[in-house]
Amino acid sequence: MALLRIGVLTCSDSRAAGEAEDTSGKAIIELVEARGWLAVAYHVVPDDAEAIARSIIEMSDVEEVDILLTTGGTGLGPRDVCPETTLAHCERRVPGIAEAIRAESLRVTGRAMLSRGEAGQRGRTLIVNLPGSEKAVRESLAVVIDQLEHAVDMMAGGGHA
Ligand code: MTE
Repeated sequence: MALLRIGVLTCSDSRAAGEAEDTSGKAIIELVEARGWLAVAYHVVPDDAEAIARSIIEMSDVEEVDILLTTGGTGLGPRDVCPETTLAHCERRVPGIAEAIRAESLRVTGRAMLSRGEAGQRGRTLIVNLPGSEKAVRESLAVVIDQLEHAVDMMAGGGHA
């Protein structure tokens, strides 16, 4: 079993201000630890492009996480800036991940079409945007979690055996 290093980034004004509990970020940590992976970095930041970018850069380039899972800030609200901030700091998009999350999520709720979540590569880190609610996090992560070890193998130059 691969020991993946995971970063968790919650984008939420109310959670960053301590006005709401970050049940979504905690759910991600619970789900990745259930796989035996390590949650090595966990940030809660406001819906602010600079704050999100700082965390993306630190977790990818300094902490060198294999997978960075974000939650929140993917909708249509004026302060929802996580997807565009993610792409601005990635070299390549991985569109199939976001497509799969939306396709499967649409079977559960039509509101899934309102998430603009993206996925992309920054160096050896794969960044995946998940929506903000704990329910959406659990449903979305279930769609992609089985593919993450292979994705990390591929980013390291292997994985095609
Ligand atoms: N995806 C799944 N699987 N389950 C959900 O309940 N909620 C949707 C959508 N994606 C949802 C989902 C809703 S209501 C919104 S507004 C968008 O995600 C964006 O959420 P965010 O702005 O909190 O990121």
